[in-house]
Amino acid sequence: MKRGFFSLAFLTLACLALGASCAKTDAPSASSEGPASAPAATAKVDPSAKALVVVFSATGTTLKVANKVVDATGATLYQIVPKQEYSKEDLDYNDPKSRTSIETNDPTSRPEIASDPIADFADYGTIYIGYPIWWGEAPRIMETFVEAYDFSGKVVVPFCTSGSSDIAESGAHLGEKAGSGEWIKGKKFSPEVEDADMKAWIESLQ
Ligand SMILES: Cc1cc2nc3c(=O)[nH]c(=O)nc-3n(C[C@H](O)[C@H](O)[C@H](O)COP(=O)(O)O)c2cc1C
Repeated sequence: MKRGFFSLAFLTLACLALGASCAKTDAPSASSEGPASAPAATAKVDPSAKALVVVFSATGTTLKVANKVVDATGATLYQIVPKQEYSKEDLDYNDPKSRTSIETNDPTSRPEIASDPIADFADYGTIYIGYPIWWGEAPRIMETFVEAYDFSGKVVVPFCTSGSSDIAESGAHLGEKAGSGEWIKGKKFSPEVEDADMKAWIESLQ
């Protein structure tokens, strides 16, 4: 994927063409589902809590950032591996019939995960959760993941990479799907983020 390709104009056009839920108007709003899933601006990460970094990365960019989160926190890494890996054709955002286009346009789409389930998920107090932005949101496979776990009592910290889009409400929308946990807004990163900048961000969450 050629980075920097996505301009806001492209994204708007893509959203219009695909009818994807990029816009807040289409997507469920954070306030519509009650306090359990609302973004908790005041939630703080407890540095003594056990931390897990969950990541889905189709082409390796977000995985790079996830590894930097691991380095800065000492957390365990869990990679979401799709049962059916995404091919180059699948990732073609210019093709309205590509797999990713079809999944994005289908709110009920839940791509299957091949990775083993996380047996000790209940033991973690902090979940860092990373994904690429696809049409302004987290990929559907992230919904497969969050709907499979109970985030009660956990602080959840989304992070993402993208061509240009911000993390926006993507984490809040995942929080709504999860239905539990204290989801903070999170942050978009460049895969070249400096270690010191990552460390500073992690500390700012505490
Ligand atoms: C299907 C698809 C849709 C995308 N939609 C957006 C988008 O809406 N905004 C954006 O800035 N980048 C978009 N991108 C670019 C990715 O977010 C970016 O390349 C990301 O860093 C890839 O991460 P990964 O290597 O971990 O999969 C899209 C990429 C794909 C494949």
